[in-house]
Amino acid sequence: MRILGIESSCDETAAAIVKDGQHLLSNIVASSMDLHAQYGGVVPEIAARSHIEAIMPVIQQALNAANCTWDDVDGIAVTYGAGLGGSLLIGVLAARTLAIIHKKPLYSINHVEGHIYANFLTSTSLLGYQMRTVQPEFPMLGIIVSGGHSQIVLFRDHFDYTLLGQTQDDAIGEAFDKVAKMLGLAYPGGPSVAKAALEGDSNRYKLPKAKMGKYDFSFSGLKTAVLRLCQAEIGEKYDFPSTKLSERLSEAQKHNIAASFQRIAIETIVDKAKLAFEEFAPKSIVIGGGVAASQELRRQLSQALPLPIPIEYPDMKLCTDNGAMIATLGCFTASLGQPEADPYTLDIAPNLSM
Ligand code: KG4
Ligand code: ZN
Repeated sequence: MRILGIESSCDETAAAIVKDGQHLLSNIVASSMDLHAQYGGVVPEIAARSHIEAIMPVIQQALNAANCTWDDVDGIAVTYGAGLGGSLLIGVLAARTLAIIHKKPLYSINHVEGHIYANFLTSTSLLGYQMRTVQPEFPMLGIIVSGGHSQIVLFRDHFDYTLLGQTQDDAIGEAFDKVAKMLGLAYPGGPSVAKAALEGDSNRYKLPKAKMGKYDFSFSGLKTAVLRLCQAEIGEKYDFPSTKLSERLSEAQKHNIAASFQRIAIETIVDKAKLAFEEFAPKSIVIGGGVAASQELRRQLSQALPLPIPIEYPDMKLCTDNGAMIATLGCFTASLGQPEADPYTLDIAPNLSM
């Protein structure tokens, strides 16, 4: 079974073909990230306009790269939430139209759940991908760390899961992006904070870790603590504008603040993962979302969980938003008899939760 996956929830226009829920045949991603960089974050109108321009060429490229025609495609899976309304609309309308024209079943996919399914891909003929060799086993602990979500989920089986906890305010990736902006580092913040942190001392500053419900997270207090720390470091009061901080901070201060923030933000996630591992004894742990690319996360998790089971991460290109994860979950949706979406009525769900 070959499924075309379409993803447009944020600033990546992406399409991919996946066979039988594990073979990646193509993976095309067009990002409008460069257009947002000058604003220090995604501008929804610019993202939506970029999706309109990119969506059809990206889908055609995904078919070409997989050596597929429409006759070879058994169904279309599309992200319908969570995400930016204008962005989601372009992917969903394209998928609905193509499903009607080519008479293909349509599957509506939850983007956050999709991130987890990047871990079910085990093979590809595409160059430059590092694939895991076996699919994760159930019960499986899923940790989703992205720009929009921070969640910890226990999967007993496909489509049978419990949301153990989630962020009560900002997502971890969003905190990286905001801290990067304060320090005058490039967008997206994850990689630029990580780079600055390499030069810094992660124990130089003491930053707070939020105390939340057992498996819940919070990052907004940490973000404010970084703001106050920056202001204190340059000898200014709490009303000093965050946009002017980076001009006054030295390179060494920026590196140390980035390293101290990164350590605590990642520790927040790792503490809960350890707790859930001890309580539920899962057979596998999978990480999904853009922050899964973080080397600090990988370092801390491997230290905190000295496991008989290895923790596996998707290839870096499958950590950030992509169509492959959507197509993979689409394959399971189709093969396990989950309901199809109606191509005449499928709506977007910007606030969709797991
Ligand atoms: O999953 P994703 O591509 O988009 C959403 O669904 O939100 O995640 C994007 C997020 C951004 O906030 C970015 O700063 C973060 O992933 N990110 C990282 C790293 N690479 C990307 N965060 C920490 N360390 C990284 N190396
Ligand atoms: Zn995402």
